[in-house]
Amino acid sequence: MLVAVLPGDGIGPEVTAQALRVLDALALPDLTFEEGLVGGAAYHAKGHPLPPETLDLARRADAILFGAVGDPTCDNLERALRPEQAILGLRKELTLFSNLRPAKMFPELAEDSTLRREIAEQIDLLIVRELNGDVYFGEKGMRQTADGLREGYDIMSYNEAEVRRIAHSAFKAAQARRGLLCSVDKANVLETSQLWRDVVTEVSKEYPGITLSHMYVDNAAMQLVRNPGQFDVIVTGNLFGDILSDQASMCVGSIGMLASASLDVNGKGLYEPIHGSAPDIAGQGKANPLATILSAAMMLRFSLGQAEAADRIEAAVAKALAGGARTADLGGVMSTSAMGDAVLAALAA
Ligand code: NAD
Ligand code: IPM
Ligand code: MN
Repeated sequence: MLVAVLPGDGIGPEVTAQALRVLDALALPDLTFEEGLVGGAAYHAKGHPLPPETLDLARRADAILFGAVGDPTCDNLERALRPEQAILGLRKELTLFSNLRPAKMFPELAEDSTLRREIAEQIDLLIVRELNGDVYFGEKGMRQTADGLREGYDIMSYNEAEVRRIAHSAFKAAQARRGLLCSVDKANVLETSQLWRDVVTEVSKEYPGITLSHMYVDNAAMQLVRNPGQFDVIVTGNLFGDILSDQASMCVGSIGMLASASLDVNGKGLYEPIHGSAPDIAGQGKANPLATILSAAMMLRFSLGQAEAADRIEAAVAKALAGGARTADLGGVMSTSAMGDAVLAALAA
């Protein structure tokens, strides 16, 4: 099995290095790693954030372990050359439409949540975010209005096949969990969301065991901090899922804790922390590597048929936290590599 490793920018290489140490320690047979350039790093070296050889590596690989992209020195490049286009391009080119972002409270971190302990402790939810459509991939541009004003525009749309595909992912995920699915949209205002709601409701007929509810996104943002324990699986579009997942991450203690899987119909996947390149702390050894380490566990489980090894990583993370391991985002002083050490020690114990 081949794993493409795409560390990217900022803290991406720092956190990816720790995930690779953990994977190495498991000494899994028949697992090879090949590294590629992506994001700003690829732009500076090759003139493009997603060079053809990186895309080719991603296509050849059985799974992709991704760090983060984003480089402030690239923020004024034409959009097609910006680092973020690399992750968007990989998601689109490989049809990674189903983005699973689990948020579960590690009991040891209940004091790190900005929510009160008794509320935070209830959190065990999964955001299923559509990743190939929405306002992200519609026509966009800058134009002039009739009276000469600059105007930016981004077209939001979903067709019914796109909604049906992600709805099936979400209903199946709910079947493997507590059987509750909440579809989040803005159907009171957006036609895109009305279609979303209609199609999710149609698909629900095929899943009689699942309890489907619908919620407007503004209410969902509020409910996520009021009573996050009410949620089991949330299914939502690309933009709403992006925002709600950063919010959910803080509810469970830190953005440095949330892992993700982005899957195609066959279960091939790209695995990445939900956070970005964190330019404000890059190069300082402060980043929490746990989201990436937990993403590697998801990779073993979903794409590499190594559920037992995935369990071992997750147990080691829990054990390291129980032993008091904390990076700065979790109120501690541990460096990125010291947190890696703590997970390795827990794995060996
Ligand atoms: P960010 O997620 O990079 O950082 C937000 C805040 O969280 C920062 O204060 C950062 O220091 C902190 N943080 C993030 N990850 C952390 C970690 N592992 N440990 C400790 N603290 C952590 O979001 P941003 O600042 O809005 O974006 C920075 C760049 O990253 C931008 O270029 C953006 O486009 C990009 N980005 C990329 C991805 C991706 O590669 N998938 C995701 C989000 C943002
Ligand atoms: C994420 C990021 C990306 C997104 C950006 C970097 C394109 O925020 O993975 O959550 O918006 O999907
Ligand atoms: Mn995001």
